[in-house]
Amino acid sequence: MSGAGAAGRRRFTGANWKMNGSGIEGISWLETVQAAAADGSLAGLDLVLFPPFTLLPVLAEGARGAGIVLGAQDVYYEKKGAFTGEVSAAMLIEAGCSWVLAGHSERRHLMGESDEMVSRKVASAIESGLGVVLCVGERLAERDSGIETEVVDGMLSKALEGLQNPDPSRIVIAYEPVWAIGTGRNASPEQASAMHGHIRDTLRRITPGGFAEACRIIYGGSVNPGNAQSIVSMPDVDGALVGGASLEALSFLQIARAGV
Ligand code: 13P
Repeated sequence: MSGAGAAGRRRFTGANWKMNGSGIEGISWLETVQAAAADGSLAGLDLVLFPPFTLLPVLAEGARGAGIVLGAQDVYYEKKGAFTGEVSAAMLIEAGCSWVLAGHSERRHLMGESDEMVSRKVASAIESGLGVVLCVGERLAERDSGIETEVVDGMLSKALEGLQNPDPSRIVIAYEPVWAIGTGRNASPEQASAMHGHIRDTLRRITPGGFAEACRIIYGGSVNPGNAQSIVSMPDVDGALVGGASLEALSFLQIARAGV
């Protein structure tokens, strides 16, 4: 099994635990992934676990054993200094991270993170050597008024404008419609595929040659083992970013294997 989708892009599945999980639960989750990986069936898939900051060093060794990499749910863009409560890219790398989420809707809408902050976070993470999963997505009222593509395009262009030569192996775009996050109401496979195709077209316009074709665009928002196959097998959908259903290792693995 190659782990690549129809267009040859390697599948990427992220487990975003948000503010959930404990050390004991994390270790047992990784043991389940390690057991599942023993037959080689996960080789070729990019699997990334995004636990809360405090669990990163606790889970680093287990993650290596399970063949899964760790990511953080957020990063601050300054290198060091008087920024109480914040964590830099270098600190995340020291804690065992290779990826970070940027611009998750819960940070944009609950914590008031601006496009400008997201853009600085992306630039700082990339410059430090982390991979970035850039999250974009419209709210329900924006979709209802037919401006969802403008909203997503604005987020994409502002977040990526500071990058000179973006590397598609280190930037993943997560399309996460806000109305589908944690609601049990996923985007239909057709809605997801249409927006992913639009995002790829926008990337063709705003990034240098070749990036758009190679960049993974993953879907997030109420993905579960029952709907994953229909969503991730659509054109331009290269994997999933999973919240609630990722807390159970077996359901995360079922989602990661969907579509390959
Ligand atoms: P749910 O899968 O719980 O809807 O969360 C999606 C999400 O926000 C992943 O980042």
